Amino acid sequence: MKTRTRRLRGSETLRRMVRETKISCNALVYPLFVREGKGIEDELPSLPGQIRYSPDTLAKGIDTALNAGVHSFLLFGIPKTKDENGNGAYDENGVIQQSLRNIKKTFADNAYLITDVCLCEYTSHGHCGLVHGNRIDNDATLPLLSQTALSHARCGSDMVAPSAMMDGTVAAIRGALEAEGFEDIPIMSYAAKYASAFYGPFREAAGSAPKFGDRKTYQMDYHNSKEALKRIDIDIEEGADIIIVKPALPCLDIISQASRQIKLPIAAYSVSGEYAMIKAAANSGFIDEYKIMCESAVAVFRAGADILITYFAKELAAAIKKGDIG
Ligand code: PBG
Repeated sequence: MKTRTRRLRGSETLRRMVRETKISCNALVYPLFVREGKGIEDELPSLPGQIRYSPDTLAKGIDTALNAGVHSFLLFGIPKTKDENGNGAYDENGVIQQSLRNIKKTFADNAYLITDVCLCEYTSHGHCGLVHGNRIDNDATLPLLSQTALSHARCGSDMVAPSAMMDGTVAAIRGALEAEGFEDIPIMSYAAKYASAFYGPFREAAGSAPKFGDRKTYQMDYHNSKEALKRIDIDIEEGADIIIVKPALPCLDIISQASRQIKLPIAAYSVSGEYAMIKAAANSGFIDEYKIMCESAVAVFRAGADILITYFAKELAAAIKKGDIG
């Protein structure tokens, strides 16, 4: 018998049956931006097709996504005023806190709400932690991140997602949540978050670009992978429930290594720049948006991700329902 390259004989039905990578709508998380104010429904110029809501209009965005088959959301808040200490992040009446109350009232448990825990959207200097002199004060930031997570839990957040990359964040938040009886609130930690230019359109949307310096003292150097694995281990020890790797396509190697080494689910965050690149190239007629979206998403799951956080969540859900992927 001749040896041949393995090509599967048979029909499309069989090819689908033996697909190694299976995707479901349940694994998609849709990021949404909420701005303090009323009646807001603006398309974000840096993220074509993405709408920025206010706490009173957010239900529309959630409703559309639920109808498309997406049930999980990652909420980012943009306050009216920013200050040195990022007070809006942990204000009981802050933009996320208001949004959580509204959405939980309307949708109860039909919408799974994950809340970003970071200061950069709320600080006047745009850094993720408190600034003392020209440095980020890691330890002084921890109580504020804990307070933020607690205020989210009190308003109905289903899971908190700390993204500030301060050392000790997961332990601090876990302790604070347990002290108030929120031991069932999971922590999805941005353990492996690279200092990346792919976050550009997000910072434009949230007005959160640092006013001086950069995030390289607390986000990772993309030359390194061992550091990512070490940070993941530390966050697991501190009590994380899910680990985030971001950006997604530039980090398929990290996702792949981590998925073989750790025993927790991995969420890959396909960030704003990844989305914007596809949109822009498709808009110029260089690529097929739908096919590139499908292929990119499947690649992330094939690498080993269990969850995909993506601005294409609704369109991917439609592609899964249609049977084009999944
Ligand atoms: C906040 C945060 C950022 C993103 C998620 N959480 C921005 C940053 O670190 O500058 C980026 C997400 C995206 O680009 O879609 N720290």
